[in-house]
Amino acid sequence: MPTRTSLGWIGTGRMGYAMAERLAKGGCDIAVWNRTKQKADPLAKHGAKVVNRLEELSTKDILFVMVSTYEDVKQVIDQALAKGKPKMVVECSSISLEGSAQLRKFLSSQGVEYLAAPVSGNAKVIKAGKLTFVVSGPKAAYEKARPYLDMMGTGSSYVGEGELARIAKICHNVMLGVVIQNLCEITILAQKAGMQRHAFLDFLNKSVMGSMFTRYKTPALVNLDFHVTFTPKLLRKDLDLGLEAGRKFEAPMPLTSLTRDLLQQMIGHGMTEQDFSTLILMQAKAAGIELEPEHKEVGDGLSS
Ligand SMILES: NC(=O)c1ccc[n+]([C@@H]2O[C@H](COP(=O)([O-])OP(=O)(O)OC[C@H]3O[C@@H](n4cnc5c(N)ncnc54)[C@H](OP(=O)(O)O)[C@@H]3O)[C@@H](O)[C@H]2O)c1
Repeated sequence: MPTRTSLGWIGTGRMGYAMAERLAKGGCDIAVWNRTKQKADPLAKHGAKVVNRLEELSTKDILFVMVSTYEDVKQVIDQALAKGKPKMVVECSSISLEGSAQLRKFLSSQGVEYLAAPVSGNAKVIKAGKLTFVVSGPKAAYEKARPYLDMMGTGSSYVGEGELARIAKICHNVMLGVVIQNLCEITILAQKAGMQRHAFLDFLNKSVMGSMFTRYKTPALVNLDFHVTFTPKLLRKDLDLGLEAGRKFEAPMPLTSLTRDLLQQMIGHGMTEQDFSTLILMQAKAAGIELEPEHKEVGDGLSS
């Protein structure tokens, strides 16, 4: 088990907390900072050092970043590098291609290695040990970071130099948006035709069309538990990134455009604080039906 490399971790929101927790529990030498410190404090019981000042992470061997947008990444990196330099930055937030390229340019001018390493999965997926990374940047840097990426989930896919990982992640999240919208549409169609949602989704999840994603979204769609895993605004950001990339590379994205507008309608109605799967409520309203929780025990495919 690698223990001598010093790790720094910036950002313990829903994702960052669960990721850093796996490294701490795995016995890594890890120090953690979060803007709202009390969110990071419980990591101390797993052996992480929770620091008060971001600058305390400046000279770590590998500095992981998991915040929200590129603007946030820029702020924390500027602050972290004001008083020292880490050897490597591994940036895991879902940010734009352009933001990532700017960050690479800046870090390279400082002599800091940089990996773009966005992720697939939510906090529950991380707890189940099923997080995955898509990584781009210098291969040698990837090999150094790889043992830690592996500790956080089921491994990583190296896709090449530069910002290619950002494109892969954007494509992935565009699929997330389009699939949840379609899943909501067909679930409401099935219900309006007379089926119970849990019965329909049970069939779908067992079929070739079922996936880890359709399974772990099933409890939300059946019992209307919209405890947030990913916010509508963060999903909108990713669909916007997808549309921006489509324009840049001249690739049409008709389903993405439509899904983005449907999500925008929901956000326009003020539905921003719950999970993005509240799209099913919009769909039900559009179909003229009232949704009630089915109060059925349905598995999420992650717990076993
Ligand atoms: N949730 C998912 O299912 C999921 C899946 C894959 C990828 N992602 C991506 O992962 C990233 C994090 O998502 P999340 O769901 O963990 O979000 P979150 O729960 O909202 O956490 C955001 C984190 O970033 C910090 N932060 C934001 N702006 C900051 C700033 N300007 N300065 C310092 N810290 C700042 C927050 O600090 P405070 O605690 O102080 O607010 C918090 O620790 C996003 O880029 C998201 O798109 C999310």
